[in-house]
Amino acid sequence: MEKLDLKTPNFTNENIEKIAELFPNCVTEKKSESGELERSIDFDALRQELSDSIVEGPQERYSLNWPGKREALVTANTPISKTLRPCRDESVDFDSTKNIFIEGDNLDALKLLQESYLSKIKMIYIDPPYNTGNDFIYNDNFTVDKDEYDEASGQRDEEGGRLVANPDSNGRYHSDWLSMIYPRLKLARNLLCDDGVIFISIDDGEQANLKRLCDEIFGGDNFLSSIAWKKRSSPDARSTIGSIHDWILCYLKNGEQPKKAIGKIPLSEQRQAAYTNPDSDSRGPWASVDMTGMLGRATKGQFFEVALPSGRSITPPKGRSWGLAEATFDRLCADNRIWFGSSGDNVPRIKKFLSESEGQVVPSIWDMDEVGSNDEASKEISELFGAPKIFDTPKPYRLIQRMLQTSTAKGGDEIILDFFSGSGSTAHAVMQLNAEDGGTRQCISVQLPEVTNDKSEAFKAGYKTIAEISKERIRRAGKKIKQDNAGKEGRENLDTGFRVFKIDSSNMVDVHVSPDEAHPELFDTHVENIKKDRSSEDLLFQVLLDWGVDLSLPIIREEIAGKEVFFVDDNALVACFDEGINEEFVTELATRKPLRVVFRDDGFGSGKDGDSVKINVEQVFKLKSPATDIKVI
Ligand SMILES: C[S@@+](CC[C@H](N)C(=O)[O-])C[C@H]1O[C@@H](n2cnc3c(N)ncnc32)[C@H](O)[C@@H]1O
Repeated sequence: MEKLDLKTPNFTNENIEKIAELFPNCVTEKKSESGELERSIDFDALRQELSDSIVEGPQERYSLNWPGKREALVTANTPISKTLRPCRDESVDFDSTKNIFIEGDNLDALKLLQESYLSKIKMIYIDPPYNTGNDFIYNDNFTVDKDEYDEASGQRDEEGGRLVANPDSNGRYHSDWLSMIYPRLKLARNLLCDDGVIFISIDDGEQANLKRLCDEIFGGDNFLSSIAWKKRSSPDARSTIGSIHDWILCYLKNGEQPKKAIGKIPLSEQRQAAYTNPDSDSRGPWASVDMTGMLGRATKGQFFEVALPSGRSITPPKGRSWGLAEATFDRLCADNRIWFGSSGDNVPRIKKFLSESEGQVVPSIWDMDEVGSNDEASKEISELFGAPKIFDTPKPYRLIQRMLQTSTAKGGDEIILDFFSGSGSTAHAVMQLNAEDGGTRQCISVQLPEVTNDKSEAFKAGYKTIAEISKERIRRAGKKIKQDNAGKEGRENLDTGFRVFKIDSSNMVDVHVSPDEAHPELFDTHVENIKKDRSSEDLLFQVLLDWGVDLSLPIIREEIAGKEVFFVDDNALVACFDEGINEEFVTELATRKPLRVVFRDDGFGSGKDGDSVKINVEQVFKLKSPATDIKVI
């Protein structure tokens, strides 16, 4: 039986595999530091394959570089052996919801999600710290020792991670921020599906650096727009040129089919006002559009004579053709889709009905009247919490709704990710839009338990971390959306719940100890390879992550022959982490024909007896459910 390795993917190994696919001759073996043979790349051979297009050494090249970039890349590629522990108490509708809230550092979260959500996310929105000199950024470089760190920053998250202040007096001001965001964006890109889109909020401080960095990560061809969002109406009186906008960088995962990735948005109120109904058409309001076309593109058949209702006949105006063929014109006329003016004597125009409108093209400037402002966002939070200033830098949920409208289908069921969740505005926007258009979009939010300042309103109101604010906002917003939509058809299907997970060390005891460390107590804990404080549900979710199974699938817990068994999405995965697994019990499980089944390694008993039960169990599945993949932890 194969053992699950319960570690996030090793991207260096995956990169070697990709090179091996293209250039098998460039893959070789070398001895690792521990003396074992490992696959490696023969750079001399690769150099020969690419000999005409190599830049090396001091030769000039176009690139974005900063001190620490290489380490940041290593940070992205290094596997971790952490896990996500479910937290039922803090969740809402744990068993039925498809939304997820992850508390912890997003670098870890992105690594943990790599298998289960690879190429599955349709839209990512992030609003990272802008690097204003006042915000804290995450220090992934753990070389600073504890005292040095505490002295330097006075900040530490609950997991002992390091959040460091990044004042602009720091000589590595921009470099540190780039080193923070680089590995996260690299990992996030893997999660986007082929027609996926990422939106990133930023201000003038790092816009230029972020644009260059994203060109490198997503590819310059996949850049769609630097959207300017007017976030306030008047500039700060103290400024020289007062900024009243933020940027929202927008990139596609794959620019080949941009229209599939980004659709139109509903017509603005201003555009809708242009639709009227002067002839009381039963199809409702309409606007008329020009029916003439350009001469250069016209065929002979586009110069026909039109008989107007007034009795006059006309041909296209001078220098123009008709924009359609005569047969099409006749068809539209017969369907009352041509407008000759109230006098019946005007140049004909085509009627476009509001009810048939596909919306408007997404503009590159977003106005606060349409998508909300900073003030609106603060008001939303104050109203939900019944107290002012609970969170300093929220975005209005209407802003994120606009992103959702452009990148997901009306009534869609896509997965959305925000890994700098803050006050949870993305989760709020997803629930709100689902309530409006009957969608079943799912949201994954990630937020660090960054401690709130003890003088802040949030702290005084009892919220010790930003993650607590985020969760409470989603709870309150969900309740309000349900109330606001009471009686609306389909409301019972509206998902306002979320499964909370906390990032923690692996559930498994670290068995990689050197012989001189192997004293008897350690040996005792290793007989049980699972940490004592971990529940069967903890183990289940670590298995789901490792096996690349969606974390939001429905889970049913049953008791079979006195043992606790989890059925994930009916028979997608069946897990039992109890001891005393035997043939009789397994025969019962095999009748359910699970796709995957997992047990704990010591669940079969120890020694030779355990080994023979294991062999028998494999035989039972081979006979009764040969397609089942069996693994142990
Ligand atoms: C600008 S705020 C996001 C605000 C959010 N868009 C909203 O509308 O409320 C950035 C958030 O990212 C969080 N953050 C910073 N570093 C993080 C990390 N490494 N992992 C997860 N969250 C992080 C901060 O705690 C902060 O809440």
